[in-house]
Amino acid sequence: MKILVTGGLGFIGSHTVVELQNEGFEVVAIDNLSNSSIEVLDGIEKITGKKPIFENIDLRDKSAVQNFFKKHSDVLGVIHFAASKAVGESVENPLLYYENNINSLVYLLQELTILPQANFIFSSSCTVYGQAEKMPITEDASVQPANSPYGNTKQIGEEIIIDVAKVSNINAVLLRYFNPIGAHSSAEIGELPIGIPQNLVPFITQTAFGLRKELSVYGNDYPTLDGTCIRDYIHVVDLAKAHVVALQRLLKKQNPEKVETFNLGTGKGSSVLEVINAFEKVSGQKLPYKIVGRREGDVISAYANTDKANEVLGWKAELSLEDGLASAWKWEQKIRS
Ligand code: UD1
Repeated sequence: MKILVTGGLGFIGSHTVVELQNEGFEVVAIDNLSNSSIEVLDGIEKITGKKPIFENIDLRDKSAVQNFFKKHSDVLGVIHFAASKAVGESVENPLLYYENNINSLVYLLQELTILPQANFIFSSSCTVYGQAEKMPITEDASVQPANSPYGNTKQIGEEIIIDVAKVSNINAVLLRYFNPIGAHSSAEIGELPIGIPQNLVPFITQTAFGLRKELSVYGNDYPTLDGTCIRDYIHVVDLAKAHVVALQRLLKKQNPEKVETFNLGTGKGSSVLEVINAFEKVSGQKLPYKIVGRREGDVISAYANTDKANEVLGWKAELSLEDGLASAWKWEQKIRS
């Protein structure tokens, strides 16, 4: 069974390729290497014993997308990760985000509507909930106006898929991720941020390694236990496995609705200071940090109610925050050695 993974050399994409290959799927990975590296293919091969088929395609190139599906007309499912994801950059360059995240999605869906049957997994985000009124967040919490073009592309993406599924052969699962962290336990693949990391965990591991002077903690005056923001940090390997489960559900036609939505998190919220403490514990490193002002656009708290994913998908996050941090630290040391 041939599965297309777009953004297959990226952080979550590469871990998902590994889990798909472990389950016996034949994988074709598309990536334009804009935020990834070709060496990721070697890492995947070291873990699974097999390289996925690789196509260096920019999904904004409509004719390239058309040609891809002519060549690979036997694709049975698509897991679509390829997208830009830096919130700040999206504010500065909204058209880049709308072009990259929306055009690519439209071109892919256009090709899938031609197929007799298409199964589509979409990489969405808990950012669609904004500051939810109730914690933990259930899938029926209302979608709030997006506070960045990046967030807006995830909301618009979900809407496009819902509209298209109504009038086509497409069945889809929208997966709303909380905060993915960590790396494969082998340290053969992991997160490769370009430039200064915007996300907490890669900033922590780079600081611990001495690449950054200190971590800035964005605000300790939030209405939380220790004043820092709360997030739900999910191990990327758990997240990757959820994609395989969601895909199998569509392939086995177990989905009662054409489009289903699931939160993917652990259900546990951790504050920034708790993450720092956990990192110091698992790494044995002292992490230099200072408290600075709040970062614009940060919500106070976001963690998932995972009941729907647990019960309907039969998937549950198995790995802890400590596992995620330890694997991210192992990976950071490996890539710098
Ligand atoms: C946000 C979105 C997420 C989206 C992601 C894209 C929410 C709830 N989450 O993640 O859906 O996919 O952006 O990048 O909207 N922090 C520091 N210092 C740092 C970096 C981060 O203190 O140097 C803090 C942040 O204030 C936040 C936490 O660490 O409280 C996590 O930040 P980050 O890793 O950037 O993820 P989110 O902003 O939660």
